[in-house]
Parts: sequence; C-alpha cells; structure tokens
Amino acid sequence: MTSIKTFEDYKQVYRYSVEQPEAFWSEVATQFVWKKKWDQVLEWNFHKPEVKWFIGGSLNITENCIDRHLPHRASQTALLWEANDPNEPSRRITYQELHDEVCKVANMLKMHGVKKGDRVCIYMPMVPEAAYAILGCARIGAVHSVVFAGFSAGSLSDRINDSNCKAVLTCDGSFRGDKKIDLKGIVDEALKKTPSVEKVIVLERTRGPVTMTEGRDFWWHTEMTKVNAICDAEPMDSEDLLFILYTSGSTGKPKGMVHTCGGYMVHIGYTFQTIFQYREKELYWCTADVGWVTGHSYIVYGPLMNGATSLMFEGIPSWPDMGRFWQVIEKHKVNIFYTAPTAIRSLQNAPLSFVERHDLSSLRLLGSVGEPINEEAWHWYHANIGKDRCDIVDTWWQTETGGFMISPIANVTPMKPAFASFPVPGVQPAVMDEHGHEIEGNGIEGRLTIKFPWPSMARTIYGDHGRFRDTYFSTFSGKYFTGDGCKRDPDGYYRITGRVDDIIIVSGHNLGTAEIESAIDEHHDVVESAVVGFPHDIKGQGVYAFVICYKKPENEDKLRGEIRDTVSKIIGAIAKPDKIQFVSGLPKTRSGKIMRRILRKVAEGDTTNLGDTTTLLDPGVVDEIKNGAL
Ligand code: WT7
Repeated sequence: MTSIKTFEDYKQVYRYSVEQPEAFWSEVATQFVWKKKWDQVLEWNFHKPEVKWFIGGSLNITENCIDRHLPHRASQTALLWEANDPNEPSRRITYQELHDEVCKVANMLKMHGVKKGDRVCIYMPMVPEAAYAILGCARIGAVHSVVFAGFSAGSLSDRINDSNCKAVLTCDGSFRGDKKIDLKGIVDEALKKTPSVEKVIVLERTRGPVTMTEGRDFWWHTEMTKVNAICDAEPMDSEDLLFILYTSGSTGKPKGMVHTCGGYMVHIGYTFQTIFQYREKELYWCTADVGWVTGHSYIVYGPLMNGATSLMFEGIPSWPDMGRFWQVIEKHKVNIFYTAPTAIRSLQNAPLSFVERHDLSSLRLLGSVGEPINEEAWHWYHANIGKDRCDIVDTWWQTETGGFMISPIANVTPMKPAFASFPVPGVQPAVMDEHGHEIEGNGIEGRLTIKFPWPSMARTIYGDHGRFRDTYFSTFSGKYFTGDGCKRDPDGYYRITGRVDDIIIVSGHNLGTAEIESAIDEHHDVVESAVVGFPHDIKGQGVYAFVICYKKPENEDKLRGEIRDTVSKIIGAIAKPDKIQFVSGLPKTRSGKIMRRILRKVAEGDTTNLGDTTTLLDPGVVDEIKNGAL
C-alpha cells in the first residue's frame, strides 16, 4: 500500500507509513532496480547521529534513471532543452541518447583517472551536458559536487578544497539573458588555490576566448570522441556517497551535505511520482538550477527515475521579456510547472498582458518551492497561470532532506492557499516549544523538527560529523531540527513560517548572515558588520547590513558600491546587500553578542517596539541606529 489516488488513500498510506515505516519503505524500494536486495531496511540513532537505509543493498541510480527505460522508452524524450535565446533551436535528448552520452562522460572521466569515491566538481550552467555530468559521475561511483555557476571564484575554490575534488567539469562560458559570463576565467582564478584538481574538462557553449592549461585542461568535445557509449554501471552500496551539495550555515563556512545512494534513490523516485501524480507522456518543467538541490532531485534524478520528460531551461524569466516562462509553456505545451515564489512575485509585477498573450491551457499542475509563498502570490499564480483549474503543490523541504517532506499531493489534497499542508508518507514532523517539548494537537505554532528518519536525509556534513550533530540534532534532543518555524492549523495543515536561525532566504537562495558579514569585513575600510534579513516585495527577504568603518565615510554611496562589489567577488552576486547603513557601534550584550533581534526590528522598519535593551553594553547606540535607518 504505497500508491495514492484519493485523500482517503493518503490518510491510509500515511498511517501505515508511520505505524510500520520499515514495511512501508521496503514496499516502495521494491519498485526500483537493485543489483542486490538489502538485508535490513533501517538502522538509526539520532543521538550519534547515525542513519542507514537499505543496509547491504547494492544499486546504481543511473540504471534506474536510464537503463530500465530503454526496452520501452528508448526513443522517448528524456530531456527537452530550451536555450537562453528563444531563437536558438531547442534540443530533444531521448532516453537512448541520454544513455549514450552518460556512458561516454563516465568513460571520459575514467580515462582521466577518476575512480569510484573520487570527488568531481561540476561548475556548469543549465545545459544538458550538466545532467550528463551528474549521471556520468553516478555511473562510475564518483561523488559529484555541483557548485552553482553563479558563485564567485573564491566560493568555488572553498568548495573544491573542502572535499578535495580531483576534476572539474565546466564550460567556456554561460548565457544569462543578454549577458555572457566567463565561467572558465572564474575556474582559472579558483584553481590557483586548489591543489587537488588534476583535470579540467571544458564544454564549449559561448565560444568566448579561453586559456587552456596544457596537461590540465581538455575540451569536452575532443575527449568525448575518444570514448565509446558502453559503460557498465558501478555497483554501489546503499550507503556509498552519491553526492555532496553545499548549503549555507548560520555560522562558519558552507556545509557539504552528504547524500547516499539507496535511500536518496527511493525517496526521490517515490516523491516525484506521488506529489506531482506524474502521468505518462506529460511534460514536466522545474525552473530551478541544477546547482541547487531542487535541480538535482527534481530536474534530473526524480523525473528520470519515473521515465518522465523533463524540460531544462537555460534562460531567465525576464529576458527577452517578462513573458518568457509563459512563452516556453505555450511553445512546448508544458503540463507541470514548478517554480519559486520569488519568480512568481517578480512576474506578478509585470503587466498581465505578458501572461495573456500565451496559451497556457496545457497546464495541469503548478508547484512552488524555496520559501514560504505569500497568499497574494499564491492567488495570482492560481488565477492567472493555473486559470483556477490547476492545483498548486507547495513543497517544503531542504538541501538536507534531499526530497519532499511536507506538501500537498496533486489532485488529492484539498488545497489551502499558502499551506505546505501535510507530511509526505514516511515523514514524521513534530512541532516543539521553546522549552524543548513537543506540542501536540492542532491550532498550534512552534519549531519544526522531524522525529523519525526518512530515506533521503543527509547522512553527515562532509568531513565534519560533529558539526552535523551540533547543527541538526542538539537543539532538540533525539530530533532533527529543520531551522524553520511552522504553524499547524485547526485542520492539521502545516504552514511554514520561515527560518528561525541566522539563515536568510533571498530570492530562494539560502544565505548565512555570518558568511555575508565576513565578506563585508574583507573591505579594508570596514571594522565590523552585522547582517540581517528584511521583508522584500520580490526577493522575499533582502540583505540589510549594518557596517562600522574605521573612519566616517566621505562618500557613502561610493563605499556602498565597493562593499557590494566585495561581497559579489567573495560569495557571488546573489549575496550583495540591498541596504547598507553605516553605524558607529552595534547593539552588543555585555558578553559581546550582537543582539540581532534589535537590528531585525530596525531593518523591518519597526523602531517603536525594540523590546528590552537594558542588557546592552551601550544602549546609546540603539538611538543612532534607529535614526539612521534606511
Ligand atoms: C529552506 C531550505 C527545498 C529546496 C530548495 C531550497 C525554505 C523551502 C519551502 C516552502 C516554506 C520553504 C525553508 C527551508 N523553504 N521550501 N515550500 N515553504 N519554506 O533548499 O536552500 O536548502 O533551503 O528553504 O526555510 O528550510 P535550501
């Protein structure tokens, strides 16, 4: 009993999954191709913490994504690629072609000395070859570490070094609207500081000028002619590493979340089918980037495991005009459209004529992910894109969870605007109060934790298991802490209210305030800074920086520009502060801890109700900060 067609089914399956989790997941797992069946479903301890699924099982996820479909889907489109430029022809890659390209990439990696267990960094834009690269690694058991191709050279080298990647797969450049980005130049800069990298394979995309380093750098197209399209899938233990993906932490450097083969496969394959209720021949489009977990799980692995056709889009929603998404839906007759609230809000601000000039009647289902969707955006999306016909699946999950955790089920769960609704079968949320007690019943609010393991959960932080335990398993003993707050309404529907830690979500990108602060502090005029989020109409949250300088800035706007450039250089453009307020001091407690609560209030524009400030070392700075608020 794992398949769901009605809300009654959901309730039954959910109950079963909680009462007999091992039986439930083992039934789900049976629907996949294994080289060897598991001996034991689950072993876990949230105090260590240690979690293992499908112990003793052996599999290769690429056989589930590709080979199993070849007998009946060889000529079906697996990936449909739409270029940045609407005038460039789209590309259809069949399951057979996907097989051949993935095997060739796998052989190319082997030829360059990459072995099972080696880490490979993928720094590529949204081209089909990025999917080949991901699957090519998985084919031979190399661990992929995809780094979003909007990150700076410094962020790239930090991530490469953290996991000692042996090879880098990249492009000469990338297209983004009317801009061209020199990716290879960024890689060259990053590789000055990465001793572990032996080989770089460069795909030609923009044909801009590049410098190739003899013996290290090779062209993708020439290397691919030297290999054949047959490559046996490496048998992987269920708990062997599949990939590492970095996410921001509330303190310190980014965390390399580790995902393993068996559990990830089962959870992602099952949730793609269940939540979207994907039907044969439908065209599915997720607008995320492969550099984020959404791209991994629900552009590449999830759809392919289900024999779906997944649309991959290289461009941006606003170019050549604000109707680009709607034009692509019309052009390809997209059935399922899955995007982020920040994109919806920015398109909602454009004249409705950009929507109305396109035929969106192919749509059956809409999805949302990345941050809480506000009711206004939900209704706009539902009415204008879904024409009041399509359900919206508001999927709550995280890089750490690997796959969907709380979400409506398409055409099954009665919709409630802006509610992520109910837990996915097998997922057991618990809402906690500030004293660490679980709050039972409905009509409540607290911190969201998960009290039982699920197959696609991250197993550790690469190279730092202590940090994994401290970050996720120590706030609430014996439970996984998500970092999010939530409400459970009188009907038991969950609504995610947002982060309760020092992580801010800007345009759906997860950023640690500490990371931005340390980038700002790199500017030679800056003594210290404090960063908080503030509500932003389009981005959800914006970045507000309070900055102390050595001397009073002569030209504040010039210095603001320089600080933004510094952050952009160190982290990437996504982390640039929206507002920079120069201050002479920060509100600190006697023990030196910055009281962010006060800064958050000021950033929100609420300066009347700052709460208790008596424990501050120098309450005087608060007035100055209030008066200078932007
Ligand atoms: C954080 C995780 C999930 C993949 C993309 C982001 C927020 C995500 C929702 C949603 C409310 C959401 C949470 C979460 N978030 N989806 N549907 N409703 N909040 O992955 O970068 O790891 O960020 O994004 O705050 O903790 P991520």
